[in-house]
Amino acid sequence: MKKLTLSFIATALLAHVVMADGDTSSIKEEGVKYIKMLGSALKKEVKSKMKEDPTGALAMGFCSTKAEEITEKVNNQLPHYADVRRTALKVRNPKNAPDATDTKVMEAYEKAIEEGKFTPKDIKMVEVGDTYRIYKPLVTKKLCITCHGANLSDDIKAVLKKVYPNDKATGFKEGDLRGVIVAEIKKD
Ligand code: HEC
Repeated sequence: MKKLTLSFIATALLAHVVMADGDTSSIKEEGVKYIKMLGSALKKEVKSKMKEDPTGALAMGFCSTKAEEITEKVNNQLPHYADVRRTALKVRNPKNAPDATDTKVMEAYEKAIEEGKFTPKDIKMVEVGDTYRIYKPLVTKKLCITCHGANLSDDIKAVLKKVYPNDKATGFKEGDLRGVIVAEIKKD
């Protein structure tokens, strides 16, 4: 009888673990979907503006007004229990400042980069209170250097000075972690 009870409990526990696993992987997938929505909406706009004006000055002017608008628009398309945003350890827009959990996750990515163990496919998921957070790392690419690198053009510097006087998001090299996109999904 005791044996039967134990095996019953074991089966029940196992079932629970498997179920939780299944659940969280679908939450992760859902988060990645929202991350991609924001990522591609922003990329599309920056790329087309950079094409129009390769100095980046036009895109810069565009970013400063439109990035928040695009983020809001994407969020309006998500279910009420979800949202998506960008953050970084060094921010340009103070509204994108990280909290303690964001900082911890980004520090883990930076450590992995330092140790040569990083892959941009490393999506991290953490639980914070009643929400799941899904993180995707954003690596600095050649395109990003125009506006986030060490040697900025005078045009870019002028926009930065005017629009982001407290900008911290310069001096990046290709391969550095520039920031993350985070999806937040409330548990039901
Ligand atoms: C044309 C200039 C320009 C280019 C190119 C550019 N950015 Fe930005 N970036 C900005 C501006 C302006 C902001 C602040 C406005 C905003 O997006 O909220 C910003 C903000 C960000 C943020 C949000 C955190 C913060 O600092 O406020 C991240 C993350 C980011 N950029 C990553 C990238 C990556 C990765 C690339 C390359 C794929 C890139 N950027 C290319 C101008 C640029």
